[in-house]
Amino acid sequence: MTKTTVESQSVDASSDRAILQVDALGVRFGAFQALTDLTMEIRPGEIVGVIGPNGAGKSTLVNALAGVVEAGTGSVVLGGCDLGQARPVRRARLGLVRTFQTAQLFGSLTVRANIALAARSGSGKALDAAIGHALKVLRIEHTLDATADRLSGGQRKLVELVRALACGPRVLLLDEPVAGVPMRDRAAVLDLMRHEVAERGASILLIEHDMEFVSSVCDRLYVMNAGALIAQGSWQEISTNPAVLEAYLGAVSTPSTDVGDQKKEPK
Ligand SMILES: Nc1ncnc2c1ncn2[C@@H]1O[C@H](COP(=O)(O)OP(=O)(O)OP(=O)(O)O)[C@@H](O)[C@H]1O
Ligand SMILES: [Mg+2]
Repeated sequence: MTKTTVESQSVDASSDRAILQVDALGVRFGAFQALTDLTMEIRPGEIVGVIGPNGAGKSTLVNALAGVVEAGTGSVVLGGCDLGQARPVRRARLGLVRTFQTAQLFGSLTVRANIALAARSGSGKALDAAIGHALKVLRIEHTLDATADRLSGGQRKLVELVRALACGPRVLLLDEPVAGVPMRDRAAVLDLMRHEVAERGASILLIEHDMEFVSSVCDRLYVMNAGALIAQGSWQEISTNPAVLEAYLGAVSTPSTDVGDQKKEPK
């Protein structure tokens, strides 16, 4: 696969090699090293989980991939295109689309307008159908004419997911998509993620503390602690890995111990 620069605007989707390749990514906030030498890849059609205790650097990773924070070292290559210092809007237009841990909607705009703003760069019936499908699966069609600030926290998270899908992502970065979403609605989010992969060929990087959710949908997982990767593999492999158990529990535990589902309020 030929690697191009972001200026050339072309993204090679013909290869079944990694759609997203992250090499030796490092982020510093002043004297604090938030991400260290982080290398990972996502292949087309994969749902890859990133888990780790609070403060491990998961959101910082998404922020760096999305171009919201600047990586001091390393590279991010999307479909053969080195993103370099590309700004967030440019990355989204190339298909690297993220949601936020706390939904970032325009509160005074309607749900319809929030989604339409995101869909501006995309077009066509297929995208409209995908948005309609997502609204239906998530059962939030009735909120379309409400302003976003009238929604519950859980509804805002679901709308933000639809808004991200409306960008036509090739790689979707989901930062705790079900935090604040009632348990009864989480299966619908799973269905939607699987549909996005199966029907539209997207790849997904999922950050989530709900381990039942993570283990049921991810093909593979990376585990972070203190800004670095400490393990990777299948759910079976990482959930019995002593280093992972130690990161979560502070001590090596028995292999049968669940990796902690750190319930917490969304930020
Ligand atoms: N803009 C920033 N400036 C300084 N420090 C930051 C900044 N953003 C994040 N950090 C720090 O970087 C570390 C990682 O934060 P991050 O939000 O990425 O963790 P996380 O894995 O997403 O945690 P959580 O599971 O609680 O969401 C934390 O110590 C956090 O305080
Ligand atoms: Mg986070």
